[in-house]
Amino acid sequence: MLGLRRAFSALLPRAGLSPAAAMSTLLISQERYAWLRELGLQEENPGVYNGRWGGRGQVVTTYCPANNEPIASVRQGNLEDYEETVKKAKEAWKVWADIPAPKRGEIVRQIGDALRQKIKVLGSLVSLEMGKIFVEGVGEVQEYVDVCDYAVGLSRMIGGPILPSERPGHALIEQWNPVGLVGVITAFNFPVAVYGWNSAIAMICGNACLWKGAPTTSLVSVAVTKIIAKVLEDNKLPGAICSLVCGGADIGTAMARDERMDLLSFTGSTKVGKQVALMVQERFGRSLLELGGNNAIIVFEDADLNLVIPSALFAAVGTAGQRCTTARRLFLHESIHDEVVAKLAKAYAQVRIGDPWDSDTLYGPLHTKEAVKMFLDAVEQAKQQGGSVVCGGKVINRPGNYVEPTIVTGLPHNAPIVHTETFAPILYVLKFKEEEEVFAWNNEVKQGLSSSIFTKDLGRIFRWLGPKGSDCGIVNVNIPTSGAEIGGAFGGEKHTGGGRESGSDSWKLYMRRSTCTINYSKDLPLAQGIKFQ
Ligand code: UN1
Repeated sequence: MLGLRRAFSALLPRAGLSPAAAMSTLLISQERYAWLRELGLQEENPGVYNGRWGGRGQVVTTYCPANNEPIASVRQGNLEDYEETVKKAKEAWKVWADIPAPKRGEIVRQIGDALRQKIKVLGSLVSLEMGKIFVEGVGEVQEYVDVCDYAVGLSRMIGGPILPSERPGHALIEQWNPVGLVGVITAFNFPVAVYGWNSAIAMICGNACLWKGAPTTSLVSVAVTKIIAKVLEDNKLPGAICSLVCGGADIGTAMARDERMDLLSFTGSTKVGKQVALMVQERFGRSLLELGGNNAIIVFEDADLNLVIPSALFAAVGTAGQRCTTARRLFLHESIHDEVVAKLAKAYAQVRIGDPWDSDTLYGPLHTKEAVKMFLDAVEQAKQQGGSVVCGGKVINRPGNYVEPTIVTGLPHNAPIVHTETFAPILYVLKFKEEEEVFAWNNEVKQGLSSSIFTKDLGRIFRWLGPKGSDCGIVNVNIPTSGAEIGGAFGGEKHTGGGRESGSDSWKLYMRRSTCTINYSKDLPLAQGIKFQ
């Protein structure tokens, strides 16, 4: 990885080069980006893998959000590629399902190790193609590594209980089997980690996977699949156990409608997630949904502000506000409102904005130009609805999709814009008086992903965790809303979709449960004491 930093500095705008000239050369063709080839990438990459690489669909070029220069391109799959890949994945499953779970765990361990070896270069690609800062790019590869480790252990632990039967000479056993083929559709904002959570767990459970990542992060999908494919091929296993079909809505729709997709895990917007859910439900299929969030941090009067300010900053500004766990609403007790706003505005002013690969940078660009438009539109709506922009609110005058991290105060808790998830770094700061009202405001939005309170009051903490507290899937105390560990189940309620991925017992969603009753006696006693004679 020597020279990587230097390579990145080449992304800085160069004097004397017209935008048209800069656009004409793919970054990967430039000597300074030779490191991309360490990931097996080239100018044009096949975007379908099912044991063999191919793809007969449209060619998409992906762009670096920090300067909108083209990186390289990927030839996506068409519906024929999809069809062929599903068939191969189903065949591959027959081999994979017969392998004992701990041996499947050993393959996942090797995948984790292969990712470890490429963690910096893959993290750099995430930074280059998605636009998040380098440490966050590496961080999400680390999440995949962590979930591999977790899955290896799990591969020796999953299973069901033997339950007491009410009938003599009978055994009541819970047996768990893989569902078969798991479709995984992921979003641009976590182009590695979310696939990792699904794939590592699905694999040890005995499933084959078919992945479609976001088109704008296709190079990451290809690079990750290359790492996995090598492990499978080195172990003489069918590569189609971890298939990839890069594609757009046509492939996503085909997956949602396909009866052969035994589970469809979808991460993305609530709007698209609803369409996916309805298509899957129509065929009585299974879906696992990770949709939008509208996450709140609540700060009580007794909170430790030394924790609050950095937490709010990380949760609202981190990943330029493009996490599903990003804090979008900050409820401040009226007694500390002005003090916290002043301190936070000061912290915002110190956020180092720059190229995502620069080690000094804390804040990079939005992923696309469309996201910049959405940001501006939301700021405008916030003003119209009575909000005051305390800091930020504008586009930053530099190449790439940069906008200022923004704080808006003075809106009512139920202003329409406050109830809308805009995938951008806009924090709505709202005032409250009482615990009961603010817990209700936390819960009044459609989404139910993540939530945090800052307090030292033990009673309040347990009320927050209890039935009348937060209705979210992630309920935190004295930490930010974002940055969850892999060991817990990740996901949320209501319009967030209800799915749970990664840790705890999320593995159960990737398996089907059979309740098995075995009579090993010579009699036939019936349950509930029924005599049928
Ligand atoms: C997402 O934004 O889709 O908790 C996932 C977090 C990360 C995962 C976010 N571990 O912020």
